[in-house]
Amino acid sequence: MSKLTVFEHPLIQHKLTLIRDKKVGTKEFREIVDEIASLMAYEVTRDLPMTEVEVETPITTTTQKILAGKKLAIVPILRAGLGMVDGIMKLIPAARIGHIGMYRDEETLEPVEYFVKLPDDIDQREVLLVDPMLATGGSADMAIDALKRRGADKIKLITLVSAPEGVAAVQKAHPDVDIYTAGLDEGLNENGYIVPGLGDAGDRLFGTH
Ligand code: URA
Repeated sequence: MSKLTVFEHPLIQHKLTLIRDKKVGTKEFREIVDEIASLMAYEVTRDLPMTEVEVETPITTTTQKILAGKKLAIVPILRAGLGMVDGIMKLIPAARIGHIGMYRDEETLEPVEYFVKLPDDIDQREVLLVDPMLATGGSADMAIDALKRRGADKIKLITLVSAPEGVAAVQKAHPDVDIYTAGLDEGLNENGYIVPGLGDAGDRLFGTH
């Protein structure tokens, strides 16, 4: 069974509460999602491997730790995932960016894959798959399949808000993929929206309806 981590950090919880408010406009919503993404990236990268290097300080020579240079890829699920990319990139600027395009059929609520563009060496990279809303888990499941078909075998799923149904679906289909989220909500309504959630993340990020 994969691990579910719900970030209890006060800054993350505070910012998530702010953007749940429907009165928060696009500019502020986007800025706060960006901040939460940075804070989540800080937590998600806790286990990155380190190595030692020699550094000459103005005082002496010392052996200290640096990142071992594990290759990373950030892969947003289009389009709402885009809202979290910059915030993560601020902390790990050397990461490559892939894109997986998926939309939800409004009638069946099933995800449809329409675009996949990934770094060539995706099979050697740890992948941070990013989608703000983990609702039924359909899109995440399909995106993880798309990544695995191309050789990725170390994948973490990062979401802002998750429904228990989505978490269970991803954990069942992909027991090797750990899930990191800022909020674990009550469930889904009849339209597939997360309750209480924050509405349609893509619309709120990009000012569409
Ligand atoms: N996608 C969203 O943007 N919001 C939800 O609540 C569910 C899916």
